[in-house]
Amino acid sequence: MPNNQQFRLRTKFIGTRDVHEYRQTIAAWVNEQDTVLEIGCEWGTTTVKLAPACQRVVGTDVSQDCIDRARKQYPECEFAVLDAFDARAAVDLARELEIEQFHKIYIDMSGLSGYRSLLDTISLLTMYATILRPEAIIIKSASLKHFANLCEPWRGHDGVSRKSARQNK
Ligand SMILES: C[S@@+](CC[C@H](N)C(=O)[O-])C[C@H]1O[C@@H](n2cnc3c(N)ncnc32)[C@H](O)[C@@H]1O
Repeated sequence: MPNNQQFRLRTKFIGTRDVHEYRQTIAAWVNEQDTVLEIGCEWGTTTVKLAPACQRVVGTDVSQDCIDRARKQYPECEFAVLDAFDARAAVDLARELEIEQFHKIYIDMSGLSGYRSLLDTISLLTMYATILRPEAIIIKSASLKHFANLCEPWRGHDGVSRKSARQNK
C-alpha cells in the first residue's frame, strides 16, 4: 500500500503536445530567479530561448555531437552531456556545477510522445520529481498530455477533497 507521506511530491507536471507548446510555456512557467535544466536540448534551440527568461540554464543531451554543436552555436549558454535515465549522473552534474536547486526542468527527448512510451514518461517524471525536487517539470509528450486530459482526481461527493476538508476544520 503506498504511503501518503512517501509519495507527497510537490512538483507540477506540465504536458505539452509539440515543440511550439513546449516553448510557449517559458513565458508562463519560468521566472528570472529560476535555475533551469533542459534534458534533450539537441542543438540548444530551446535552451537559448530559456536563457533570457531565467537566472541560469543548463542544456543537456545524451549525444556528444549535439552538445558540441550547441556549444559552437551558442557559446554564451551552458551545455553538458547527460543521459536522462542516469539519475546518478543528473545529481552529480548539479553538484559539479554547484547548483543547489533546479527550479524548473524542461524535457524534450525523442521517443516520449507515443502512447507506448507513457510508462517510461511517468517513471522519468517521478524520478526527477523525487531526486531533484523541482517546482515544475515541463515535458514534450503528446501521450502524457492526452492521458492527463482523461484524468480527473476524485474529490468526494460534494466536490471537496479530503485534504481541503481537513484544512477547513
Ligand atoms: C526532439 S530533440 C530535442 C529538441 C530540443 N529540445 C529543441 O527544443 O530544439 C530530442 C533530443 O533528445 C535526445 N535524447 C534522446 N534520448 C535521450 C536520453 N536518454 N537522454 C538525453 N537526451 C536524449 C536526442 O539526442 C535529441 O537531441
